[in-house]
Amino acid sequence: MTVSFIHLLPLLLSVAAAAFRHHTPATFNVLSYGALPNRITDSTKAFLGAWYDACGREGGGRVLVPQGTYMIDSVVFAGPCKGPIDFIIKGSLEASSNPKKFFVDHWIGFRYVDRLRVGGGGFLLGHGGAAWHHNDCATNSRCRPLPVTMRLDFVTNSIISDIRSINSKNSHFNLFACHNLNMSNIRISAPEDSPNTDGIHIGSSTKIKIRDSMISTGDDCISILSGSHDIEVTRVHCGPGHGFSIGSLGGSHFKEFVTGIVIRNSTLHGTQNGLRIKTWAPSMPSLASDIIFDDIIMVDVSNPIFIDQQYCPRPPCNLKAQSKVRIKNVTFRKVRGTSSSKVAVKIQCSKHVPCQGINLVNINLAYRGPEGQVESSCFNVQGKSYGLQLPSGCL
Ligand SMILES: *[C@@H]1O[C@H](CO)[C@@H](O)[C@H](O)[C@H]1NC(C)=O
Ligand SMILES: *[C@@H]1O[C@H](CO)[C@@H](O)[C@H](O)[C@H]1NC(C)=O
Ligand SMILES: *[C@@H]1O[C@H](CO)[C@@H](O)[C@H](O)[C@H]1NC(C)=O
Repeated sequence: MTVSFIHLLPLLLSVAAAAFRHHTPATFNVLSYGALPNRITDSTKAFLGAWYDACGREGGGRVLVPQGTYMIDSVVFAGPCKGPIDFIIKGSLEASSNPKKFFVDHWIGFRYVDRLRVGGGGFLLGHGGAAWHHNDCATNSRCRPLPVTMRLDFVTNSIISDIRSINSKNSHFNLFACHNLNMSNIRISAPEDSPNTDGIHIGSSTKIKIRDSMISTGDDCISILSGSHDIEVTRVHCGPGHGFSIGSLGGSHFKEFVTGIVIRNSTLHGTQNGLRIKTWAPSMPSLASDIIFDDIIMVDVSNPIFIDQQYCPRPPCNLKAQSKVRIKNVTFRKVRGTSSSKVAVKIQCSKHVPCQGINLVNINLAYRGPEGQVESSCFNVQGKSYGLQLPSGCL
């Protein structure tokens, strides 16, 4: 006698359903902990209560934030937890707009968490407006920094997806010492003139993937800083903002490095820079290497391809000083579209440590402004160009 698949199907389905039930983590709804989605009541304690129970549950748990708008103060959701944690935001979290309420550098923090999943399609409303204009960090380097919207410190093997961050007071997402973290379907927006509102700021982190996201902001779209290795950005749209940025490097008293970066299949629209590597001069000996920019479309981008080893955002600048950050093995491939400045390719390396192994492959950047023909400019560079070169190569 044979038992047909059809006969077995109900059994298979019920086994599958049981397995699914078994793997659906216990849910800790913030409403059960006293959160009130009325935009007025501070729900921080309720969120922490739900986190505490989910994090402490053997086998993991799920924090659920249902529809509605919740007022939340600065908070850290700390691990280590006893299992994987889902943090599902279906509603909106709203920060106080009063800059004086923030005494720490973050609004929402996750720290020492392994196997975290943040998602749900909800919103993080940073209310940066008042803070941007009451803050002097643009001119005073000793100012107290405004809080970033989401700080991820020592977060590993995790996924952040389907979240919108609007009008952060400082960076929208800040990753520090994270490992194996995937971000996708993130939407970030802040006005073009909002100060220091980097989209995603990455430091001291490894194996980070950012995909399928849209970032409109007032500062860098994605900035990759010291200690970052194996970072991959795919299908990200930036603009307005300051574009993709590696660095600034060499501004500290330590050796800094950034290696193994790929930025591909991405677009920039109306940004102040396109693909930029920036280093301070003078600087400690440091390294930026093994970097690929591939298949990038630009529309009206100023400084589309830009290596700047005299980075100095605030005068006075010592133009005689030279950077000791070594930049090597950097490929710009299939970069095409329009430049809003005449010098579309600017590779200005250090006299002390000239750039090595810079490759320009199939570059097609047009400029239609009043200043004449599109140009490239190179200083202290060793490298090669292949294929189409507009502007004509200076390597
Ligand atoms: C991130 O994505 C990569 C490639 O899809 C996958 O191999 C890796 O396991 C993912 N990491 C996590 C934490 O899901
Ligand atoms: C990137 O775009 C090219 C076409 O321009 C396509 O062939 C390739 O599959 C894309 N890669 C990814 C990872 O999206
Ligand atoms: C240059 O960097 C690429 C990408 O990280 C890497 O695959 C390649 O081996 C490097 N080449 C050299 C000569 O170091």
